[in-house]
Amino acid sequence: MRARVIRAYFWVSGQKPQIPGLSLYSEFRKGRRFVSITVQRATTNDLAILYQIERECFTIEAFGKEHLAFLLEDPNAVGLVAQMNGKVAGFIIGLIRSALDGTKVGHIYTLDVAIEHRRKGVGLRLLNDLERIFVEEGVDTCYLEARLDNVAARELYHKQGYVEVERLEHYYHRGVHGVRLRKVLKTSK
Ligand SMILES: CC(C)(COP(=O)(O)OP(=O)(O)OC[C@H]1O[C@@H](n2cnc3c(N)ncnc32)[C@H](O)[C@@H]1OP(=O)(O)O)[C@@H](O)C(=O)NCCC(=O)NCCS
Repeated sequence: MRARVIRAYFWVSGQKPQIPGLSLYSEFRKGRRFVSITVQRATTNDLAILYQIERECFTIEAFGKEHLAFLLEDPNAVGLVAQMNGKVAGFIIGLIRSALDGTKVGHIYTLDVAIEHRRKGVGLRLLNDLERIFVEEGVDTCYLEARLDNVAARELYHKQGYVEVERLEHYYHRGVHGVRLRKVLKTSK
């Protein structure tokens, strides 16, 4: 089946866009031009560029290519890739698991935005779209982890409504701590 393309526009000129019928990204910044962010399902065909961005983002801590392929091929995984003006700008991969109480839990494994495309709304857009798919799939709660010193990621997650629920001592390496964050996506009946 052809991957579903989710399209939105990111208006950054400081004026409200007047394009009826489009889903518009509600962020305005002065002095920039109109750019589009297109999000679609990631597949193993995207592996080479995803791995390149993963290395750019995480250097020695990057997932290996095999690990990324393994995640993308997992039937419980949701991988999304974002393009800006036709160029791959970032990606996100999350997994859906069933909890013992029968609820579905989402876990975000990686969120990567290429350096040249940062602070343009790509990270937030990927997170939003993944959460929407999680909700469609019946996920109640979403978890993720971030390094304690990763200010950009923690700010992004706070902005998106994530709450830090646990400090993870030596989670990444000895002396490199993390935090676990959680967001309730929908309230169980
Ligand atoms: C974290 C990351 C995904 C953010 O992606 P991005 O596309 O640049 O983020 P956005 O443009 O959507 O930013 C949304 C908000 O997040 C926060 N934010 C993003 N980058 C930030 C930074 N460097 N410093 C402080 N806040 C930041 C801001 O609140 C921002 O809103 P604003 O630009 O209106 O101030 C990106 O920096 C990245 O790929 N980093 C390396 C990989 C990584 O750390 N991934 C997360 C692992 S847990």
